Amino acid sequence: MKVLVLNGPNLGRLGRRQPEIYGYTTHDELADRCVGWGLDLGLEVEVRQTNHEGELLDWLNDAADTETPVVLNAAAWTHYSYAIFDACGQLTAPLVEVHISDPESRPEVFRHTSVVTPHAAAVIAGYGVDGYRMALEHLASSRNG
Ligand code: DQA
Repeated sequence: MKVLVLNGPNLGRLGRRQPEIYGYTTHDELADRCVGWGLDLGLEVEVRQTNHEGELLDWLNDAADTETPVVLNAAAWTHYSYAIFDACGQLTAPLVEVHISDPESRPEVFRHTSVVTPHAAAVIAGYGVDGYRMALEHLASSRNG
């Protein structure tokens, strides 16, 4: 089973961006880990990151057309993008929302709402990059029944 791991804005700077919050793992390292975790779970994982909302929308539209399960960390767009809300709403394969930190427990994050959660089969937040492994495990186990 193919799975898309889609990461939104600024996540390309993992490892350098506020490591006290997001850790020291770079996006390349995260992508390698996701592919490896996927192999262990029998999933073919492709990881993408973009700072451009339209690009993420195109990827979500393609995932809808191909019925591909998605692990999504929409980063800041999580909190305000109705376009991401709409794009997620058309997905038919499972969608798992991931956040490296737990936005709800961060007082400096000005929005605690998520446009992704209403469409997500599961939300995993606050487990660092391991949250992506948990999301892939969730998809693997939902595939198995
Ligand atoms: C994030 C949390 C968001 O609030 C923030 O805007 C991000 C990253 C996370 O992975 O913890 O950019 O999605």
